[in-house]
Amino acid sequence: MRTPLFVANWKMHKSCEETTAFALNFERDALELSALADIAIAPQTLALSSLVQALRGFPVSIAAQNCGQTEFGAFTGESSPVSLCSMGVKWVLLGHSERRWVYGETDALIASRFKAAIAAGLTPILCIGEKLEERQAGKTFEVIEQQLRAIESAEACARSLIAYEPVWAIGTGETASPAQAQEVHAFIRRLLSSRFSPHHGAATRILYGGSAKAANASELMAQPDVDGLLVGGASLDPNGFAELIRNGVRSTP
Ligand code: PGA
Repeated sequence: MRTPLFVANWKMHKSCEETTAFALNFERDALELSALADIAIAPQTLALSSLVQALRGFPVSIAAQNCGQTEFGAFTGESSPVSLCSMGVKWVLLGHSERRWVYGETDALIASRFKAAIAAGLTPILCIGEKLEERQAGKTFEVIEQQLRAIESAEACARSLIAYEPVWAIGTGETASPAQAQEVHAFIRRLLSSRFSPHHGAATRILYGGSAKAANASELMAQPDVDGLLVGGASLDPNGFAELIRNGVRSTP
């Protein structure tokens, strides 16, 4: 019922030329793997239109890494969600830990971006996750619950996805164990069920992110509540990303 989803988050890597080259190398794998999973790539904003063009007709969706908190307006440096949507972008990452902890984005700002994304017709992937000191202090569930408040209604829940990315696992090589990921994913699902409805809990796709790679995709995806992976470093090489997806879909419960 929940189609596996693999999202490449390229952060500020890859020029427009490198983006197009990746697309050319990935097309054949995309055709094969899209029968088994949904696939999306989030390049840096300046490369979005190169990627939209390069992947036209291929079963790979394009994602933005952030979007503005209103349709249009006086927000220097932001990207209009309406314009992203009209250029062919489908998904948008919101609340990524680098946005929260490098750029100081607050839960309130992320919630307003989330609303604007949905209003514009984008599907937000709300990124949430605890820092190491929060985990050590036993506050993981509290942090998750707080960050999930960006989803205010059942309608918004039905139109969004969640990515659990423990901050201590992002770009560090230290992946959450499958059991740690499953524990938090199950908690998120229970929370969505109780806040909205059991159907919303059961239907929402919850991705794991944080040092996901070809070598651990299978054990992560074998967890009943892990519906996909949000992949940074390991998505930069087309063959490596394809291998990760292949390993992940094989073990989907
Ligand atoms: P990583 O990044 O896979 O390089 O840890 C994941 C992310 O930040 O989304």
